[in-house]
This record gives sequence, structure tokens and C-alpha cells, in this order.
Amino acid sequence: MEKQAAAQRIQELRAEIERHNRLYYGEDRPEITDAEYDLLFRELLTLEEQYPDLASPDSPSRRVGSAPLEKFTQLEHRLPMLSLENAFTEGEIADFDERVRRFLGMSAAGEIEYVCEPKMDGLAVELVYEDGTFAVGTTRGDGFMGEDITRNLKTVRSIPLRLAVTPPPRLFEVRGEVYLPLVPFQRLNSEREEAGEPPFANPRNAAAGSLRQLDSRITARRPLTIFCYAPGMVEGTEFTAQSHFLATIKAWGLPVNPLIRKVAGIAGILDYYREMQARRESLPYEIDGVVVKVDSFSLQRELGEKSRSPRWAVAIKFPPRQAVTVVEDIIPQVGRTGVVTPVAHLRPVEVSGVMVARATLHNWEEMEKKDIRIGDTVVVERAGDVIPAVVRVMAEKRTGSERILPIPASCPECGSEVVKIPDEVAVRCLGLSCPAQIRESIIHFASRRAMDIEGLGDKFIEQLLRLKLVRNVADLYTLTQNDFMQFERMGDKLAENLLNAIAASKERELARFIFALGIRHVGEHTAKLLAKAFGSIQNLAKASEEELLAIREVGPQVAQSIRTFFHNRDNMDVVEQLLATGVTPSVTEKKVGGRFTGKTFVFTGALTRFTRDAAKEMVENEGGHAAGSVSKKTDYLVAGEEAGSKLEKARQLGVKVLSEEEFLALLES
Ligand code: IVH
Repeated sequence: MEKQAAAQRIQELRAEIERHNRLYYGEDRPEITDAEYDLLFRELLTLEEQYPDLASPDSPSRRVGSAPLEKFTQLEHRLPMLSLENAFTEGEIADFDERVRRFLGMSAAGEIEYVCEPKMDGLAVELVYEDGTFAVGTTRGDGFMGEDITRNLKTVRSIPLRLAVTPPPRLFEVRGEVYLPLVPFQRLNSEREEAGEPPFANPRNAAAGSLRQLDSRITARRPLTIFCYAPGMVEGTEFTAQSHFLATIKAWGLPVNPLIRKVAGIAGILDYYREMQARRESLPYEIDGVVVKVDSFSLQRELGEKSRSPRWAVAIKFPPRQAVTVVEDIIPQVGRTGVVTPVAHLRPVEVSGVMVARATLHNWEEMEKKDIRIGDTVVVERAGDVIPAVVRVMAEKRTGSERILPIPASCPECGSEVVKIPDEVAVRCLGLSCPAQIRESIIHFASRRAMDIEGLGDKFIEQLLRLKLVRNVADLYTLTQNDFMQFERMGDKLAENLLNAIAASKERELARFIFALGIRHVGEHTAKLLAKAFGSIQNLAKASEEELLAIREVGPQVAQSIRTFFHNRDNMDVVEQLLATGVTPSVTEKKVGGRFTGKTFVFTGALTRFTRDAAKEMVENEGGHAAGSVSKKTDYLVAGEEAGSKLEKARQLGVKVLSEEEFLALLES
């Protein structure tokens, strides 16, 4: 391609990719598939490589991060980033409203208009746009000085590199919260544990750790996102109210939380607060309260601020999801890769509506750092994770009879040697035929996210092992009705169902099959990348280190682990045995005969029962198709809160509209 044509194509591609970034990450309504997006992105990379002088700092290709910094530069905020006063009770909320009205000299009957927002539990940042281009991004720091994390923020795909407005304001500073949604948080933590790295205690720490990376290539791999909520210094435009500000920046392409609502008076605040508290558990991200702001900017100016917080806003905090209980025992548990994890068995206690009886202590290093002993009284917390964590020990409650659990010298399950691997926090059992490892690897293989063998849970797998009916995952496919009939309390029908479920699992996608094998460091995400790159298990098995490293996101450790796995004769025997019994991993993800076969779904609005990715997966798992926009071909529109134009269009076209609950009911029908 000639240089001039290339320059033009590069411009087109950048604009197009940024538009799709915004649709996907900012508005949650993608118009193209991931594969189509990849194609555009690769075309841009190729052209920019070919013409290095056409490179530009605001190209979306820069979102992949760049070589590490020595340290961050400190920058001063043009306007200080204030904090908020907290309210904890309904009485304190009423006090806030009362103070506002008194300060403004309003009558007792007068009502203030407020904007209520979820209080995002992430990291506050400031984005500076100069003439519409993202120029600088900083952390909040101490409120006056923050760190220059521009390079890292550029990797956050939902942050537009240009504002969608002409002419743009000369200077536009906007504040917001960068956060990591729960699903990627849990995935990140399981990958870290798998790799023998300490997990993050909660999504906020994970977001902070990712944003404060000196190597922005690491940040780029974490699916961070942002909601914007406040202006900083602005020149060349004006806003009249918080609601006006939010509607405007949303139109400019900045992500705004769709759950934000304008309400009237104290009654409106309380309704909103109670509603968010009820919905907290089902949101796809962590919130730790609600922020209430006087809507009118002229009233805000009149109210002004105290030393470090404005008089026109308040943060209403939710009660922490913590409880106090006793560690009755600590049991070492062996996982499928041989990692031995200390698990605290707790005196059962309720933590905001959920009974908690166990907590992982992650590893001995963590346990020693927190000095957790058998018999200790501890504070437990559910923090954005399904598995609760021990926050701290109440040392003042110690009686002297507490016991420390040392690293076991041998595996509690098979008696083999247990070693601490250098550079890892993990302790591993080296037993090649450790029954715990075999059991856990079969449980993993059959699990929902892997081969999804319905009904084949832990208990049945334990019985199969005890009766010596299976020794490895491949043996599952040779089981007969008679084998299952040896179980206690097994009926013909149940045995038949289990056999059918096992047979059905022979046809799973390649990515699931790779994940199911339980190769160290290969989680669901990496398995998908490998399936896409190699197309068959045979190709993956013979892939060279160079070929593996050619995949972005596959590093030396992962490549090494894959090579080691397939070079092991026993592992290859199992893989071959699996293929010989008729397991045929497929590359296409479609399921035929699912209950949504041939049906097209569109999701819109703020979803609270599941994430958009999960919804897409549920539809595809049932053979359906999830599309980005409503058309005559759409069968169902699933509308969350604040659904807009798509809902309208669906009604015009007579497309059936479902609530999230109705969708789930349909799925289970
Ligand atoms: S407004 C002066 N809105 O809470 C106004 N803050 O305690 C300052 N936060 O540092 C912030 N969600 O990190 C605002 N919707 C929201 C928020 C929010 C979370 C955090 C933010 C801030 C802290 C203040």
C-alpha cells in the first residue's frame, strides 16, 4: 500500500477501533464479534509497523502498554481531589439533608434535588483532556499531588483517547473510579494461586496493584474499567448540574454508571440507599455504599466546602460484610496440581446473609504473616469473592492454648514428600499418584467450566476412585451401567443419566478440553487463546516453545508448563486414551440441539443478575446467538435497568422483551 493510502487507512482504523472500544467497554453493546475486532486491530498493527513514522501516541495500538518505567512522576492536581464525609445510619443521612437545607436557608418543607450514585470500590483517578485528546492521567494521591499513570490508563479500553465532541473544550478534567469487575477478579486470583503467587485480598487491591504497575504491559492484561463521576478543572464549556454533567460526558463517550439516579429529598435518598443495599450482592462489581450529591452546581457553589470535603455531598457507607468467629481447625488440603493449601474450618457464622464455615488461608506465608492459629478468634470477611477470607486475628482474645499449624512434612493424603518451591509461596506434594491430586484433577475435568459433565459431582467421583473404577479422566468414558450400579443408593435412571452426561461431554469445544486437562498455568482464558491459535490438541501437543511464545499473553512460564505437560508420557497416554474413546474436541463453539438453537438474543441496559459476557455464554451454550443490535431477526430483547433506544426499537418491531428474571426462567424452563 502506498504511504498516502496507508495514512488514510490508519486514520480510519483508529477511529473505527476506538468506536468499538467505546461500544464494548463503555456502553456494553458491541456491534462486532471479537474475531472481527481482532482483524481490525491486526491490520492497524501491520500498517503501523510498516510505516513507523505514522505512529501516534493516541493510537489504540498503544493500549497494549509499553516498556517498564523506573518510577512514577508526581503531578499536582489543578484542583484538589477532595474526599467525602461519611454517613453510616439513616439518622446521619437525615442530618446531612437537614444541614444542606439549613445552610441554604430553605424552609422545612423545601426539598432538594439530589443525584444518587453507587459508591464504586476502586481507585480514584483524574483524566485530563486537552483539546479533546487524553493527555495525562493521575492517581488521587494525597488529594493535592498524584502519580502520573498516563501510560497505564491508556490501556484501560473504556477510557476514550479522544472525546466525541466538536469542538472539544480546551481543557477538560474528569474524575472517576477505576475498578476490576468481579468475574475477572476471581479469574485473576485463581490464575495467581495456580502460579503460586499470592492472591489479591479484594477487587480494589487488584485494581490498585494493576494501575500502579511500572510495566504497563501488565496493566493492559487486566480488564480494568472506569465509571466517571465528577468534573475537575474545565475551560471552554460549562455545566449547570451534576445530572447535566453526567448526561453530557456520557454523550462524549465517557462511561457513566447507569444506576445513577436523580431523586427528590431525604425520602428519595433513603429509597435509593435501600435499593442499592438490596442489589449489592447481585452487581457484577463491588460497591461499598452510595454517594449523594446536590444536583445544582449553583447550589453546590453556594454550599462550598470545609477543609477537605464538600458540604454538598456525602458518602453513605454500607455495613462491612464482616463477622467474628473461631477457627476450630486448620486442615491442609491438596489441590489438583499438588499445591497444599491450609483451610480454616470455622465455627459457622452468618456474614450479611450467608453462612460461612470455611475460609482459605491461601498458603503458609500468608498464614504466618497474619499469625493465624487453631483456636484463634478471628474477623472474617466476604470481599467480592465467593470464598470468605480471614482479615485478622483478635490477639487480645488469646488464652494461650492456640496452636500453630506447621507446614506438613509429608502429604496428608498420600504421604509423599512435600516441598516449598523456590520463588513460589506454594507448598507442593510431589507424589505422582497422590489420590488427592487424582481426585481433584477428575473433579476439575468434569466441572461446569471444563467438560461440564452434568451430575458427576465430588461424591460420585470419590466413589468411582474408591471402587477403583477409574484411575484417570480417560477411564470415565469406559464406565458402564453395571459400574455405577455398584454405588450405594444408585437407581437405574440415575446411572443412565450419568452415562448420558458423560457421553454428551465427548463433544465439547477444544478450549474447554484444553482447560479440563489441568495444565499448570493454563486457565480458561489461556485455554481459549491456545485453542484459537492451534486448532487441535495434536497441534498444541507438538507446538514448539517459539510457536507458543508467539501468542501474545503466553509467557515463558506458561510455554514451559505446556511443553512439560505434553512431554510427559503418562499425560500423552491419557490424552490419546481420551481421543480413542471418542472424545472429539471441536473448534466451533456452537451447541446443536440447545434450547435456543436458531434464536437471536440482544441484551441491553444495566444488567444486575449476570454480566454481559456470562449472558452471551449462556445463550451460546444453548445454541443461540447473542447480537449487538436489535433488528427484525432478533427473537428476544433482554432489558435491564435504564434500557433506552434498543428497547424502543424492539417495541416498534414487535420483538419479545424479557426481564433478566424472565430470561433466567426461560433458560431453566
Ligand atoms: S465524588 C468531592 N462519586 O469515594 C467529590 N466519589 O470518599 C469527590 N467514590 O475518593 C468524589 N464512587 O474514590 C464520588 N460516585 C462517586 C464515587 C466516589 C466512589 C470514591 C472516590 C473518592 C471517595 C471519597
